[in-house]
Amino acid sequence: MTQTPNHAIDKVRVNLGVRSYDILIGQGLLTNLPSLFPNVAQATSLFVVCDEHVQADAALVAKGFQNQNINVTIAVLPSGENQKCLESASKLFDQLVNIHADRKTMVLALGGGVVGDLAGFVAATFNRGLNLFMVPTTLLSMVDSSVGGKTGINHPKGKNLIGAFHQPAGVAIDIDVLRSLPDREYRSGLAEIVKYGMIMDAELFAFLESNAAGILARKPELLMHIIKRSCECKAQVVSQDEREETGLRAILNFGHTFAHAFETIGGYGSWLHGEAVAAGMVCANKVSLKRGLIDADTANRMVALLKAFKLPTEPPELSSAALLEVMRNDKKSVRGSLRFILATKLGAVALFDDVTEENVKGVLSPLI
Ligand SMILES: NC(=O)c1ccc[n+]([C@@H]2O[C@H](COP(=O)([O-])OP(=O)(O)OC[C@H]3O[C@@H](n4cnc5c(N)ncnc54)[C@H](O)[C@@H]3O)[C@@H](O)[C@H]2O)c1
Ligand SMILES: [Zn+2]
Repeated sequence: MTQTPNHAIDKVRVNLGVRSYDILIGQGLLTNLPSLFPNVAQATSLFVVCDEHVQADAALVAKGFQNQNINVTIAVLPSGENQKCLESASKLFDQLVNIHADRKTMVLALGGGVVGDLAGFVAATFNRGLNLFMVPTTLLSMVDSSVGGKTGINHPKGKNLIGAFHQPAGVAIDIDVLRSLPDREYRSGLAEIVKYGMIMDAELFAFLESNAAGILARKPELLMHIIKRSCECKAQVVSQDEREETGLRAILNFGHTFAHAFETIGGYGSWLHGEAVAAGMVCANKVSLKRGLIDADTANRMVALLKAFKLPTEPPELSSAALLEVMRNDKKSVRGSLRFILATKLGAVALFDDVTEENVKGVLSPLI
């Protein structure tokens, strides 16, 4: 553990051979990035891509680099998923050309998953790859999208259709930035943390249960712990299956086949991603329960925890035929059979490719 002047800093190492990097988690990190990450201080210029809602944080980051005589350019993007498009990437490419970016220019993504995915994609492709540094500012991006190297933009016909794997040189998680995050966004991020508990860490799950009120109140010491543990979980999976080849990384999709269908049919924007994941995980557990993989107590514990975090625990009232149609086309389905990651106990999951459409229908809203 290292220190900034006033606070402890936790470290998670993502082991990926020559592409290994550190995630530092703490408070007051933003102005100190060059001293905290020596590899980053070697950049000769910095291109910060930030979300409009975190411009004050971008100014802090810039100050730290300017103090080291590193040239900083800041590109501010409007917030929203529709920024993850070719046009936005193209504008960023133009700016990189204008500042004569070269291999020693580093792209720093400061924002949620939208900025991380877009700026990451630009870094992966400009000049065949620029160094990338991540400063996630939503809870979801801290525990999920900034770890693992997936970058990408959307195509009008599909989300994340265009992209590349590009690991960052480092990730700085400064929990102070969460103070301004809207409550609903914060709770949506908690759903992914519940997911890590459910799929691989029963201790984390129990910690969330015991500290739900303090976590909702964003107590720093609790945030530090749950973010660190989540990053360790994701790093562990990613380091064993960096490019989604062995199937292990698929466990991170627990609840997501349902969630993607809810998001697609419900229209992106009606539910936040984490909200759809929460309801999706409940559906997945109902399938597990029916197959006798888990007991009712385990399923009920997850529902109670999601309720404590004020997240949805019922599927939306959408046509089950339409939802099934999306699930059939999901990239995780093979030759028409439905593949699901299902819990086998608290803290463990496995892949099942024999889930029938009747099983799925049985856990969707009975109303339609
Ligand atoms: N690459 C991956 O592995 C991966 C994993 C999961 C999700 N994602 C992607 O992440 C995206 C969703 O990310 P997200 O949930 O972070 O959404 P987001 O980036 O849209 O941010 C959510 C909202 O919070 C605002 N915001 C961000 N930080 C803030 C702060 N500190 N204070 C106040 N407001 C703030 C943003 O302006 C936005 O309105 C999706 O596009 C998804 O595909 C990628
Ligand atoms: Zn997710």
